[in-house]
Amino acid sequence: MRKVVLDMDPGIDDVLALILALKSPEVQILGITTVAGNAPVEMTSANARRVLKYLGASSIPVAAGAANPLNRPLEDALSYHGPDGLGSCGLPSPRTPLYPAKAWDFLARLVLDAPGEITLVATGPLTNVAHAFELHPELPALLTRVVLMGGAYTLTPYGKGNRTPFAEFNIWQDAEAAHIVFNSGADIFAVGLDVTMDPAACLNSQYLKQIKIRRTPAARLVAQLVEYEVKYHGCCRMHDPIALATLLDASVLDFISAGVEVVVGNDWDRGVTRILFSGGSQSIHVASAVDGPRFLKLFLSRILEE
Ligand code: BDR
Ligand code: CA
Repeated sequence: MRKVVLDMDPGIDDVLALILALKSPEVQILGITTVAGNAPVEMTSANARRVLKYLGASSIPVAAGAANPLNRPLEDALSYHGPDGLGSCGLPSPRTPLYPAKAWDFLARLVLDAPGEITLVATGPLTNVAHAFELHPELPALLTRVVLMGGAYTLTPYGKGNRTPFAEFNIWQDAEAAHIVFNSGADIFAVGLDVTMDPAACLNSQYLKQIKIRRTPAARLVAQLVEYEVKYHGCCRMHDPIALATLLDASVLDFISAGVEVVVGNDWDRGVTRILFSGGSQSIHVASAVDGPRFLKLFLSRILEE
């Protein structure tokens, strides 16, 4: 069992990844750190705790992090994820208190207490992670690896931008933070739109029917979230759960190794993640293909379990 910390901005697909992690024996969640991204950080922090409470997992600590990207104000994605960031799912407001430390301090403490044992799964903008790495330059080498959802690498026909024509949302939102993380020396597995936008990995209304039959709390929440996405966006994009899946079944994704340049600044190419087949300060493992049906089967089998 791998010890993981989830750094996230829930967000519908972040919650799908969280539920997948809670239902998977391969990972043990030591804590969640929340960041501004899909929604303001107060909302992403509330959403993490709403979901944990509903699933009887409130003992997992949630530490709130950055309210804004390093150099700019947040531009959230509530228009995509719904006014509460979770498709108006109706879960009650959380009563569980936040962990009494900032996200980056909490993350650093966990890693320093268990050097070489913790995997960081980052499925939001990388602001918290960049803060942690700047405050503790030894941290990247003490993590087993960083698995992140972010980027668009033009490795497949789907590897184009979703926030701009060229840039993916998480990287675009805090390109400066992504630049720090991608050059930190950490062992990085980057799962980008090249694979998460593969239509074969999109959860459609056929799968939704199967989920709706099951009446467990997890299946009911997943059905509600997926239904919102299917209704407003045609099918449910599984960006963040696909990133997590690489820790559950490595055969779901293929990776190539290459340098990656993250474009910073405020020009048209902000947030572009450019593959450098020679050069680059370090090699990044970049997802180049996903077995969509296999991933969806894995996701469903975990979600539909008692
Ligand atoms: C990423 O952006 C967010 O909206 C999703 O939660 C995912 O992490 C996809 O570009
Ligand atoms: Ca996310």
